[in-house]
Amino acid sequence: MALEVVILAAGQGKRMRSDLPKVLHRLAGRPLLAHVIAAARALKPAKIHVVHGHGGEAVKAAFTGERIEWVEQARQLGTGHALQQALPKVSRAATVLVLNGDVPMVSADTLRKLVRASGKGLAIATSELSDPAGYGRVVRDARGRVQRIVEHRDARPKELAIREWYAGFLAGHASRLAGWLAKVANRNAQKEYYLTDVIGIAAGSGAQVTAIKASETWEVAGVNSRHELAILERAFQNAQSRRLLDAGVALADLWRVDVRGELECGTDVFIDVNCVFEGRVKLGDGVRVGPNCVLRNVSVATGTEVHAFSLLEDAEVGARCRIGPYARLRPGAKLARDVHIGNFVEVKASRIGAGSKANHLSYIGDAEIGARVNVGAGTITCNYDGVAKHRTVIEDDCFIGSDATLVAPVRIARGSYIGAGSTISKDTPAGQLTVARAKQVSLPGWKPKRKA
Ligand code: UD1
Ligand code: CA
Repeated sequence: MALEVVILAAGQGKRMRSDLPKVLHRLAGRPLLAHVIAAARALKPAKIHVVHGHGGEAVKAAFTGERIEWVEQARQLGTGHALQQALPKVSRAATVLVLNGDVPMVSADTLRKLVRASGKGLAIATSELSDPAGYGRVVRDARGRVQRIVEHRDARPKELAIREWYAGFLAGHASRLAGWLAKVANRNAQKEYYLTDVIGIAAGSGAQVTAIKASETWEVAGVNSRHELAILERAFQNAQSRRLLDAGVALADLWRVDVRGELECGTDVFIDVNCVFEGRVKLGDGVRVGPNCVLRNVSVATGTEVHAFSLLEDAEVGARCRIGPYARLRPGAKLARDVHIGNFVEVKASRIGAGSKANHLSYIGDAEIGARVNVGAGTITCNYDGVAKHRTVIEDDCFIGSDATLVAPVRIARGSYIGAGSTISKDTPAGQLTVARAKQVSLPGWKPKRKA
């Protein structure tokens, strides 16, 4: 039977105290809703409907290019009302899986179980906590059968003591769900049409309600406040650290690493404290990353060391390189093997050949640097003339003296030596020393000015 998913994401999220729609707040670098959509996609549904309302344009814009059926809920009258907006677009014969857009860490596994169990009637995901404050409680009858859900704000003291709570996911047959939903009223503390009333209505009509318990509490944790988001971020990061450690990565501190994307590691990789990995990052065998580094969409080959406080972004780093401390690789930096990029060196849209070194205080932009080149301290490629960018080429085996400025476009031919402090604006001949600076003079008899 065809599966269709409906994700409820129209709420404002008042408790976040933010102008950003709640489902766009980020967990592990991605909007909450993106996590929910990813879990849904893993089940290969025929369609994914997202109910939007508060900040709807921003929510839609965050997912342009994705296959999503958008459904508007102009006024947010409750989760039941939200599902009601989507159901007319769902095929009558489909199985519907309804997800909360603010419960981001749900696993595809739990969702699969839910869909399987929904064949008998209605399936709901539940979890247990000693104090599930804020959540809807699962009321069971004397024989343990699910009877209904009571929302926290409508619950009597005895019901508040119930530990089992509704985790925000349910699955059922589309036409039966529509029938139950039509009976939901808004006579409750929040004057809302609660989706959770469907459970009591279904059970009351004799349908079987199956509760599927989620294995991990953080998997079903909802995000209603920044505090809950912060707690969940740590829980998620800790689970990722666990996976890295299990895969053989050495972490200096499992609580102080943040992965906001995909981190792929070879064997015997070491990661020191406070590193952030964003997008797709690949670290080869034996790579060491020092403390406080940020790596975004980079690949680092075997045996390379990235020292403290380095920022690497959209770059490729070869084997056995030494980067940092305090190095910055910007988009388009491509380093071959055995390259050294030292402190306060910035590399942008440049290739650097094997064994070349720029160890101190340099800007290398739009450059092509060959092998075994030494770029002296303070060397600058002057790539920008105020209108356009130009390229600097430094061929193999050159030695660039300290504080040279290379005014692009310019080519430093193979084996050139450039005198310290030179401003080079013309191509240089191979194998020669080029010096371009005023001759040093000393003035005998010169006296400093004195105040009268
Ligand atoms: C809901 C459940 C509660 C459950 C909890 C689990 C109801 C009535 N209560 O409570 O039993 O324990 O989730 O996390 O369903 N939304 C809309 N339109 C609306 C209202 C909400 O699309 O009119 C969306 C929100 O954007 C959100 C989701 O539905 O993504 C849940 O709404 P929220 O107000 O956060 O419900 P809870 O109070 O957390
Ligand atoms: Ca919620």
